[in-house]
Amino acid sequence: MLPPLHIPDTVRFRATQLADALRTDWRGILSDEEMDRRRAMNNEERRKSFTAGRVVLRSLLADELGLAPSHVPLIVQESGRLACEDHDLHLSLAHSGQLAIAAISHHNIGCDLEVIRHKPSSLLDYILADEEREHVHGLPLDTDQSLFLCWTVKESVLKATGTGLRRSPRSVRARFDLNRSLAHVQDSVDAEWEVHFALSSRYAAALAVQPG
Ligand SMILES: CC(C)(COP(=O)(O)OP(=O)(O)OC[C@H]1O[C@@H](n2cnc3c(N)ncnc32)[C@H](O)[C@@H]1OP(=O)(O)O)[C@@H](O)C(=O)NCCC(=O)NCCS
Repeated sequence: MLPPLHIPDTVRFRATQLADALRTDWRGILSDEEMDRRRAMNNEERRKSFTAGRVVLRSLLADELGLAPSHVPLIVQESGRLACEDHDLHLSLAHSGQLAIAAISHHNIGCDLEVIRHKPSSLLDYILADEEREHVHGLPLDTDQSLFLCWTVKESVLKATGTGLRRSPRSVRARFDLNRSLAHVQDSVDAEWEVHFALSSRYAAALAVQPG
């Protein structure tokens, strides 16, 4: 189950269990290009998460645009970010574990999702900018929760900018308000982001929205 994530009014959001998405008529939903990409994947888990991600995003866009999911003109930009041809919409999707999530908005957005798992504690300091360390180490969370909270919040912003992990997570700096499940993030080009996040014992999820 996805932990409860606040979704602003300006964003349409959907989450699915991979198993539910794979019970749909996904062969009739995915485009020929997506079916080719799926076939070229040599890992069954990757095939499943890719398929579920496209099913959940296409069904969300289909409801928004009044089209059949298979008719949604989804394209992959050079950066890897998805877009909807001829529509002024920002799209983002993520998959991890048994879940896939998708978000669409007229505002710039990015979402990320990760299964919380044990990692070397040095990884947390590796992704933090110097000025974030004291704040993050002071949060009442264990190291793995802090790591995946920081990771998903930063990656949601990097996905919204379209660079993804071509840019270092250290280039965005986050301040967390755990009571409001909201992070304020500043990226290195001086843009400000509001990132809604949710943590459970199994998943960390984040949705970055550029105010304005
Ligand atoms: C985007 C990126 C952060 C995704 O990380 P991830 O944790 O593996 O996967 P997530 O579940 O969070 O997101 C996957 C989705 O992000 C989207 N995506 C891919 N590149 C993106 C980009 N540059 N910006 C925004 N979104 C992107 C895709 O829709 C992808 O879904 P798909 O598998 O259905 O195509 C990562 O792949 C990346 O940084 N890519 C750009 C750099 C690159 O191409 N590196 C080569 C591989 S290391």
